[in-house]
Amino acid sequence: MKQKVLIPHEKILERVREISRQISEDYWGKDPILIGVLNGVVFFFADLVMGLSIPVRMDFIKASSYGSGMTSSGQIKMIKDVDLPVKDQDVIIIEDIVDSGLTLKSIVETLQTREPASLKVCALIDKGERREHQVDIDYCGFTVEKGFLVGYGLDFDEKFRYLRDICVLES
Ligand code: PRP
Repeated sequence: MKQKVLIPHEKILERVREISRQISEDYWGKDPILIGVLNGVVFFFADLVMGLSIPVRMDFIKASSYGSGMTSSGQIKMIKDVDLPVKDQDVIIIEDIVDSGLTLKSIVETLQTREPASLKVCALIDKGERREHQVDIDYCGFTVEKGFLVGYGLDFDEKFRYLRDICVLES
């Protein structure tokens, strides 16, 4: 399998800095809870948080939609819930990629039942190819039409997460 660079590391960081600035402006005077969706979000989450100029609290959630192949299983398994209570808090879900939309939709619905003061979604990549579930993305890094993406946290069967760039996997 070959990987072709789609978004180079420097371009990712530049865009992430812009999103950090936007979130800092929108949440000025507040201290939102940022909830990262593990595992793919790790690099994006870290770079995003370090670019903020507001205080935040951090928590993580893990839900699995994929098996070990390239297609979604169509089901969500909640593996780790958040630890912080989100009632009456400003919450931002941080996701690496929105593909079918199933993961994000399930997480949004779950968190909405806990009555946060506000709930927004920040995703590094909005990939339209297989969208089946409508989800609103408030902060979006890049829109990509199609292709299997790896790198900067994104994996194929747990491989390629470590790559600095976002790449398209070619078989
Ligand atoms: C990937 C990705 C998103 C989700 C997107 O996570 O990180 O969370 O799939 O797909 P969807 O929009 O079709 O639901 P995955 O479950 O593979 O776990 P990972 O983050 O550990 O790679």
